[in-house]
Amino acid sequence: TSSLPIYSLEEVTKHRSLESGVWVTYKGDVYDITDFVTKHPGGDKILLAAGGALEPFWALYAVHKQDHVLEILSEYKIGALNPESVKKQEINDPSDPYAAEPTRHPALQINNLKPFNAEPPPSMLSDSYITPSAIFFKRNHLPVPKVDPESYRLEIEGLPGGVASLTLKELKSCFPKHTITATLQCAGNRRSEMNKVKQVKGLNWGIAAISNATWSGARLRDVLHYYGFGPEVASGAQHVQFEGLDKDVTGTPYGASIPLNKAMSDEGDVLLAYEMNGEDLPLDHGFPVRVVVPGVVGARNVKWLGKIVVSSEESKSHWQQNDYKGFSPGTDWDTVDFKSAPAIQELPIQSAITHPAEGTSVNLSDEEVTVKGYAWSGGGREVVRVDISIDGGNTWHVAKLRTSDDGVPPAVGRAWAWKLWEINIPLPQKPQELEIVCKAVDNSYNTQPDTVAPIWNLRGVLSNAWHRVKIKVSD
Ligand code: HEM
Ligand code: MTE
Repeated sequence: TSSLPIYSLEEVTKHRSLESGVWVTYKGDVYDITDFVTKHPGGDKILLAAGGALEPFWALYAVHKQDHVLEILSEYKIGALNPESVKKQEINDPSDPYAAEPTRHPALQINNLKPFNAEPPPSMLSDSYITPSAIFFKRNHLPVPKVDPESYRLEIEGLPGGVASLTLKELKSCFPKHTITATLQCAGNRRSEMNKVKQVKGLNWGIAAISNATWSGARLRDVLHYYGFGPEVASGAQHVQFEGLDKDVTGTPYGASIPLNKAMSDEGDVLLAYEMNGEDLPLDHGFPVRVVVPGVVGARNVKWLGKIVVSSEESKSHWQQNDYKGFSPGTDWDTVDFKSAPAIQELPIQSAITHPAEGTSVNLSDEEVTVKGYAWSGGGREVVRVDISIDGGNTWHVAKLRTSDDGVPPAVGRAWAWKLWEINIPLPQKPQELEIVCKAVDNSYNTQPDTVAPIWNLRGVLSNAWHRVKIKVSD
């Protein structure tokens, strides 16, 4: 093996397509797997790792932890990486406020690097009911703050007795640990489809600014009750404000608020979460504590939580007052009055197609096409049906819904988690272009609008029209 060449990472990253060859690295060695791609039992997912390391992908797809997989890989070895290349990836500029950010999974499609905003490839999103934390979408407005769990304090204001301060240990030991499975969705999910109608302001999210995880922590209502907060003393208070420990250059933290009745409701399930998917919260998702407000827009699920304020007023933060609100398609940046619209809380019904991808070709001989996706509704409303069409919406089929890994249906009014769905639909007999469409229905019989234009808004939020994907059937 010593006769094999040494490569730099730059050289490896040039080989990320079938045309230029597909190279990957594993434990410091370089492999040219071009000839294996079409033989891969896991399909073209293998291309997600093209030009980079296999390790982060195999960490998610544990099926590769077998000797016979390594044997296959060894056939394709062409050389080794030089040690400097590996180190190069880790060097950061210390004067950069983003220098200490965590390393992220290479599968993430980055919409903005600093602050970090990224979504997983749709095909990976529907691979698992619980989204692995590494590929869970990430939406940061500011640099990720470094919080020392030992000196961490959660401040609470607006209590009957004044103020309180909790250590992480107290939060974990003084209150029952409560676990929920909840989907988070950014208000800007699917914004790119609004951009096609008319330019909007905001990150160009695809269909994957949504993910599903289990969250564990103390119930906010238990904490507020403990400090003597109840309906008797709630006079005047209507909101619970949250402040993050991430701050902009003026020292202003990220902030948001939710209605007090959501926070105090026995069935609201609002958590001061310290675990995600059974582990400490990852840095990107709010370590050591974040609020999880199930059924409510991502923006109110404040990460790196530093302070809670029970108040007669909503949060004064920019993100509560002058962002994350919906407007008429006729409203533009000259006429918009942010005071005229309520802050988004519960989100509307949503669904999208994760497979096949736009532009895919299928063969007539396949006889059918498998369509997969997700569906979710805000406010704990349960998705009860997903309709799929492969002829642009003329005829419809009902998809099979997957409720959870254990098959237990959600409690009434507390359907916080998405449903994944799947269906096989017979292909037409002739080569042609197909328009696959999906739309979901929740238990209030809310459904999605058929087109984007009537719900277009200048900020590109609440984008939930029928999702459409065009594919080709060829012979
Ligand atoms: C399955 C090899 C890269 C995703 C498999 C299997 C093999 C294999 C042998 C079948 C395992 C079994 O059932 O015993 C390889 C090799 C790779 C590679 C040699 C690199 C050179 C990847 C990457 C991804 C991936 C980068 C994802 C991004 C999958 C998936 C399956 C699979 C999802 C499961 C398919 C199923 O359940 O039917 N791979 N793989 N593979 N692989 Fe890979
Ligand atoms: N909390 C803080 N402190 N800072 C932030 O930038 N972003 C919000 C919310 N909470 C944000 C925050 C937005 S807009 C969304 S969509 C979600 O976090 C994203 O959560 P995630 O990164 O865990 O997916």
